[in-house]
Amino acid sequence: MLILGIDTSCDDTSVALMEEGRKIRSHIVSSQADLHKRFGGVVPEIASRKHVEQIDVIYEEVLARAGASAEDVDLVGVTAGPGLIGSVLVGLCFAKGFCLTLDRPLVGVNHIEAHAMSIFLERDVDFPFVALVVSGGHTIILLMEAPCRFRVLGSTRDDAAGEAFDKIAKFLGIGYPGGRIIEEMARSGARDHVAFPRPMMDDNTCDFSFSGLKTAFLTYAKKHTIDDSTINHVLASFQEAICDVLVSKTIRAARLANVERVVVGGGVAANGRLREAFLERSRQEGLEVMISSPEFCTDNGAMVASLASFHAAAGMYSGLDIKGYSRMAIR
Ligand code: KG4
Ligand code: ZN
Repeated sequence: MLILGIDTSCDDTSVALMEEGRKIRSHIVSSQADLHKRFGGVVPEIASRKHVEQIDVIYEEVLARAGASAEDVDLVGVTAGPGLIGSVLVGLCFAKGFCLTLDRPLVGVNHIEAHAMSIFLERDVDFPFVALVVSGGHTIILLMEAPCRFRVLGSTRDDAAGEAFDKIAKFLGIGYPGGRIIEEMARSGARDHVAFPRPMMDDNTCDFSFSGLKTAFLTYAKKHTIDDSTINHVLASFQEAICDVLVSKTIRAARLANVERVVVGGGVAANGRLREAFLERSRQEGLEVMISSPEFCTDNGAMVASLASFHAAAGMYSGLDIKGYSRMAIR
């Protein structure tokens, strides 16, 4: 069975062609970062216009690289939300058009669930497990009870962790997207240079708050000069505060849910320090932590194709009247 996976939820146009299971026949992620970087963030109108220009070009290229034709596709999976609505609709309308024309089944998936299940592109994981999805739009902990069945254990009450990275990078004028740039600069910095707060770390919830940390950074920047000799240290300390909270809250969630397996996905999970911190702490705690390879942490069509195969196996197809959502209730 060949599955076409499409994700246009934010600023990456991505299409994948997958065989059922884990085999990726071809996969393209076309980033729009260069278009948005001068604005220091994604401009929704520019993003959706670029998706319109790119979607069929990328789809044709994916088929060509796989040596496949449209008729070979058995199933289409597409992100139906959450995301920038204009962007989501481009992929969703393309997928609907394809399914209508070729009479193929459609599965509209939740982008957050796709990040939480992206690990299945690389290995199997026994259920139940706790999944942290940490990206530019979301910071959420899910209890994955079975394929296609999950519950929310906690989420951010304000900014997402990736958003905190991006906003601080914008404030400092060091580039976009901020997470990867901050990671690079922080590599040579001292993590204990500034004692940034760990918001909500000691409460009893599995929720997060990153806007206070961002304010703490801005307050620090007002009182201290951040120059070439200190910037890497300040950023390493900021990154450490984010990683510390993400790891601690996820481990708490696993303990509360009484599970031993933890999965981490989403763009911020590409961060080397976060990955290292998760592996260090999980060893101490006796938990098994599995983190997607960086290429599958950031937005991609392969994770959508993979999740669509789980939905299809459970008979969970979508009608052609499925709507796109900017915010999607996550059951
Ligand atoms: O999952 P993703 O590609 O898109 C969303 O669904 O939001 O995540 C993008 C986010 C951005 O905020 C970006 O700054 C962050 O992931 N990011 C990183 C790294 N690579 C991407 N954050 C920290 N370290 C990284 N290496
Ligand atoms: Zn994403």
